[in-house]
Amino acid sequence: MGIKTWYDDHIVPRIIKCGCANSAVAERRAQVVPRASGRVFEIGCGGGLNQPFYDRTKVSSFSGIDPSGKLLEYAREQAAKKGWQADIRQGIGEAIPFEDESFDTVVCTYTLCSVQDHRQVLAELRRILKPGGKFLFLEHGRAPEASVQRWQQRIEPTWKVLMGGCHLTRPVCGSVEEGGFTVTPIDKGYMPKMPRFASWMEWGEATKTA
Ligand SMILES: C[S@@+](CC[C@H](N)C(=O)[O-])C[C@H]1O[C@@H](n2cnc3c(N)ncnc32)[C@H](O)[C@@H]1O
Repeated sequence: MGIKTWYDDHIVPRIIKCGCANSAVAERRAQVVPRASGRVFEIGCGGGLNQPFYDRTKVSSFSGIDPSGKLLEYAREQAAKKGWQADIRQGIGEAIPFEDESFDTVVCTYTLCSVQDHRQVLAELRRILKPGGKFLFLEHGRAPEASVQRWQQRIEPTWKVLMGGCHLTRPVCGSVEEGGFTVTPIDKGYMPKMPRFASWMEWGEATKTA
């Protein structure tokens, strides 16, 4: 095993588990995840950090995928803690192993930044979402100010290597809209106590554009 593979398999999952678990992030998850209802699919469900926020009285089934074996272990531990039957599989968002129009809600938190092809992933999320279903997202991405954007462009190549392929420059709501969704924003802003280049966040609810 090369050092990069070892780093990605063992260090990145631990960084993600800690970095995505702070209280300010949890506040944002609490504004998004409890809106999920019916048959729910979560992309990038590894780590399991969203599971405590789902309202079990509204969710009839939970499915999720993630490519990382280590993060999937954490997700399965969270499912056991929650005490629900969860269909958690290893997979990538560019080829989601579920039928067309099979979910009432799809959830994506801090994952569009990390996938290889976010356009393909959004097309897949659109495919598996039922007509009238909701797409809930909470993502970090391209900041509004040109000065911060310049830093994001400079830092991104190194950041991607260190952070499991995470991009800093992808627009959030803009990408979701380009992917064929109509967005109702919940909120946006920088995360406190984090560098601006990595902390611009947008979160909202979207439906498929007719
Ligand atoms: C920053 S972590 C966020 C984890 C979790 N969604 C959360 O909110 O805490 C990014 C996640 O995206 C996953 N990921 C990376 N590439 C992916 C892909 N192509 N398809 C689906 N998930 C992917 C990673 O394994 C990781 O779990």
